[in-house]
Amino acid sequence: MTFSQNRLAKNNVLLVAGLLALIGMGVSSAISGNIEQSTSSRVVKNDSVATYHTSATAVFNVSEQIVGSASCKECHKAEYAAWTATVHSKNFARIGSPSGQKISAAYGNTEACLKCHSTPHTPTAKFESEQVGVSCESCHSAAGGPEGWFKLHSNYGGEGVKRNDETEAHRKERLAGCDTAGMIRASNVYALAKNCYSCHVVADEKLLAAGHKPGHSDFDLIPWMQGEVRHNFQVDQTVNAISPSLLKARDGVTTEQRKRVLLVTSRMVELETLLRNLGSISEENLGESYAGRRGWAGRAEDIFEYLDEEIGEAIDNEHVKAVVEAVKEIELGRKFEDQDAAMKAADQLAKIVQEFLDSAGEADLAGLDPLIEELDKPVGKPYLP
Ligand code: HEC
Ligand code: HEC
Ligand code: HEC
Ligand code: HEC
Repeated sequence: MTFSQNRLAKNNVLLVAGLLALIGMGVSSAISGNIEQSTSSRVVKNDSVATYHTSATAVFNVSEQIVGSASCKECHKAEYAAWTATVHSKNFARIGSPSGQKISAAYGNTEACLKCHSTPHTPTAKFESEQVGVSCESCHSAAGGPEGWFKLHSNYGGEGVKRNDETEAHRKERLAGCDTAGMIRASNVYALAKNCYSCHVVADEKLLAAGHKPGHSDFDLIPWMQGEVRHNFQVDQTVNAISPSLLKARDGVTTEQRKRVLLVTSRMVELETLLRNLGSISEENLGESYAGRRGWAGRAEDIFEYLDEEIGEAIDNEHVKAVVEAVKEIELGRKFEDQDAAMKAADQLAKIVQEFLDSAGEADLAGLDPLIEELDKPVGKPYLP
């Protein structure tokens, strides 16, 4: 399950805004209009989800687990400032742009847009601009609610206790609690990568047919995470480190090692994502649209070759070999047709990536450095305080 799906299932977040209203005005004003209208009309509530019935067709469920980026700012000033400088914090507006309106009109509704271009909001917090877009909680998961990680994650063992004074046992328990609450942290590279790819590879065939771009085929964690998205300030709010400062301070994970792990994970997760998409698209799209042979299968073939010939040559790693083994019999590229095999391989890859990550600390991955150098072209400029 990708984080998006997980999040959707968990919170039953279903955002449906009236298409006509959307086309008539800007998206955010259309939606805040809906919210205001609905709070004063019929509100159905249960433990964690508020359901708004706004009009005959529009149902608006809002996750109460989302606390919003403004709540993170108090302790994460530099991270917040870095985020507000990114496209992620602004892209909500793109849905209402002329090209966005054309896509929405062809698609027929805007529910699907909000999944990737926005964050679900609490009904009480109005649509503050900082909550809009791909926010802290789009990437680190919904923080609030009784079972959320919001309070837990920063508590070192009582008031006044600092990071360096936390006991080992408390830290273990705290971090395990965060993971149980679904927090996506830097140490869980698999969840983190799946989450990026769940938005950056557009899997919805209807959306592609409506004219949406499929997502950049050069999306890769190293360049895309280390440009404008980078915000590794936790240990020192004045230094935007290239790799997570907490991981370095806590577990001694160096920047070199981090990049090596990101390179391999990124390619494996992208391949898993593409195989899964290929396994589940409708048959008529196999040969036709961007989905299918011309798009995903071609891209999957390129990644397979990269894993086999470049990464596989650079390091001697059993998990890389296992991925090659799991995929090599599948005809990718223009001859792709075996959807069952693609799905089966995707499931195998999901396991192999996690085994790779479990053993990456001990593995010798230094041979990857020349490949990493080729990739080190950050997308956007890292924020400097
Ligand atoms: C009361 C202060 C406070 C608030 C509010 C706060 N944080 Fe934190 N956050 C911290 C501290 C302290 C740490 C370092 C924890 C550690 O040492 O493990 C941290 C760590 C993190 C980490 C890194 C965890 C890891 O193990 O890699 C993430 C991600 C994070 N916070 C996200 C958020 C988000 C998103 C919000 C808002 C929803 C938020 N925080 C609100 C204090 C806060
Ligand atoms: C699966 C996630 C996903 C969904 C769903 C989605 N988008 Fe996007 N959208 C993206 C990503 C990622 C980008 C930026 C990357 C790119 O350019 O391909 C983007 C870029 C855009 C852009 C700017 C690029 C352009 O073509 O001008 C517009 C406009 C847009 N989306 C509109 C929409 C609309 C309207 C919907 C709903 C009908 C929608 N999106 C649904 C992920 C998504
Ligand atoms: C909830 C969906 C979502 C998630 C999760 C997500 N993104 Fe994005 N991202 C988008 C959308 C949508 C856009 C494009 C908006 C536009 O062009 O209007 C975008 C744009 C970007 C851009 C700017 C690209 C440019 O052309 O300037 C970068 C860099 C980026 N994403 C990296 C990442 C990375 C790295 C991750 C994971 C750590 C990630 N994104 C996770 C939806 C998402
Ligand atoms: C596009 C996805 C995305 C968004 C949006 C995002 N983060 Fe992160 N965050 C990440 C990733 C990925 C990492 C790990 C980076 C790495 O490995 O270099 C991270 C790392 C962190 C860390 C640990 C840094 C360290 O030095 O150890 C903190 C704290 C954090 N994020 C807080 C936030 C806060 C607060 C916000 C909102 C203001 C936010 N993040 C928005 C993806 C995101």
